[in-house]
Amino acid sequence: MTDLKAIDHYLQQTQPKHLEQLKSLLRIPSVSADPAYRDSVSAAAKSVLDTLAAAGLKTELIPTDGPPLVYAESPPVAGKPVALVYGHYDVQPPDPLDLWTTPPFEPTERDGNLYARGATDDKGQVLTHVHSVAAWKEAGQTLPMQVKFLIEGEEEVGSEQFEHYLARPEAADKLAADVIVISDSSQYAKGQPAITYGLRGIAYFEVHFSGPKQDLHSGSFGGAVNNPAIALSKFLAKIIDDQGRIKLPGFYDDVEPLDESERAMWAKLNFSDAAFAKQLGVSGLIGEAGYSTLERRWARPTFDIHGLWSGYQGEGGKTIIPAKASAKISFRLVPNQSPKRVAEQLREYVASNTPEGIRIEVVDLHGGPGVVVNPHSPYIAAAQHAIAAAFGKQAVLIREGGSIPIVANMVEKLGADVLLLGWGLDDDGAHSPNEKFCIQDYFHGIRASGHLWHELSQVQA
Ligand code: BES
Ligand code: ZN
Repeated sequence: MTDLKAIDHYLQQTQPKHLEQLKSLLRIPSVSADPAYRDSVSAAAKSVLDTLAAAGLKTELIPTDGPPLVYAESPPVAGKPVALVYGHYDVQPPDPLDLWTTPPFEPTERDGNLYARGATDDKGQVLTHVHSVAAWKEAGQTLPMQVKFLIEGEEEVGSEQFEHYLARPEAADKLAADVIVISDSSQYAKGQPAITYGLRGIAYFEVHFSGPKQDLHSGSFGGAVNNPAIALSKFLAKIIDDQGRIKLPGFYDDVEPLDESERAMWAKLNFSDAAFAKQLGVSGLIGEAGYSTLERRWARPTFDIHGLWSGYQGEGGKTIIPAKASAKISFRLVPNQSPKRVAEQLREYVASNTPEGIRIEVVDLHGGPGVVVNPHSPYIAAAQHAIAAAFGKQAVLIREGGSIPIVANMVEKLGADVLLLGWGLDDDGAHSPNEKFCIQDYFHGIRASGHLWHELSQVQA
C-alpha cells in the first residue's frame, strides 16, 4: 500500500533542506547564451546530476558538442506507464544588472519569494520533480512507475544539442516514455493553478542592413544616401500593420482559426486587461484586431523586436549616416505553422522590400514549432488530482504564449503525451531583472509532483 501521507510528512520536514538545495543550484551562473559562462554551465549540469543520484536514481552525463545532457532513471515497473521529466538547467543572461535589487546569482528571500536568475525558469521548477522522487525513497515508499529525467543546458538558446541527440538511434529507446512531464511555465494566477495544453512556437532571426562602405558625414551626404538605420526602422515597422497583422507573404496560410469552444473556455477565466496593464506598468494594451488579450498571447502569431542597434551610442551627438544597422527579431507561431516556412516567407519579404542602396542579410538563429495537446487525456485528469491535493484547488486549463522549442520534436520522436505543469507565476520576472519563485509554490510543486507519480501510475499505459 502506498502511503502518500508518509511522503507528505517527509516533505513537510525537509522544506528547509529543499530550499537550501535550490539556493545552491541558483548560485551557479549557468548562462547558456554567453560562452564566458561555459564552466558554470557544466557545473550546473554536475550539480543537477549529483542531486538526481542522491535521490537514488541511476544517472548519466551525456556529452554533446555543447553543454551536457543530464539523464537519470528510476527502475522500470512492469505494466505501468513511464514518465520522462524534461527541463533545463541553463538560464537567460542576467542583464541589466543594475536593475536587480539583490545580485542575480546570490539567491535572496524576500516577502515569501526567492529572488535569483533561474529561480522560476527553470531551476526551481526542475528541482520540484527531483525532490519528489527522493521523497518517495526517503519515506520508505517504492516509486509506482518508472520516472526518467532529461535536463538540458541549452533550452534558452534553442536546444540545438538536444535536437542532435534526439536524432540519434539510441535516443528513442533511452527516452521512451508514455508521458513527458514539463514544469517550465506558469499557473494562471496566484492561488489558481493551471495545466497548460498549448505553447506557441518561435522563429528567431537577426537582420543586418548595410549601406555605404563606412559611416558618412550626415551633412555632406544626408539626403542622397540611404541611411541603414532609417531603412531598417521602416522595414521593421511595416512587418506589422495597424490591425496587428503580420505582412509576410502567406504568413496566415497555416494559421488555424481559433476554436469557438476554446474561446468560450478562456472567456470564463475573467481576465482583466486593466489589472494586467497595471501589473506591467503600461497605460493600455495593443494587439491583433478581433481577439482578446488571452487569445492574442496564447493562440495568435505575433512579431517582436528584441534588440536594435546602429550608429553612435556614446555621450553627446555625432552626426553620421551609419554604415550598418541590425536587429534581433522573432515571430511567435501557433501550432501548424512551421519555423522553416516562416524563414522562407521572411526571405521573400526581404527580396521584395529591399530599398535602393541597402543590402540585407538574414541570419536564422533558432526556432521550433508550437504544440497543442489533448486537454482530455487521462494524464491530465491524473495531474488534476495531484495538483488539487497539493495546491488545494482544481487547476484550470490554459494555453501559454511562451515556447519550449524542443517539445514538438520530442512528441514526434517518442510518441508520448505531454503534461505542462507550470508552478510559476506571470509576474515572476522570467528573462527580466529580479526573477523570483514563490517559496510556497516551490513546496506545493514538490508535493504535487510526489502525488503525481501515484496518480499517473493508475493510468492504463
Ligand atoms: N520557460 C520558458 C517557456 C515559457 C515561457 C512557457 C512562458 C510558458 C510561458 C522557456 O524557458 C523559454 O523562455 N523559452 C524561450 C525559447 C526561445 C529562447 C527559443 C522563449 O519562449 O522565449
Ligand atoms: Zn526561459
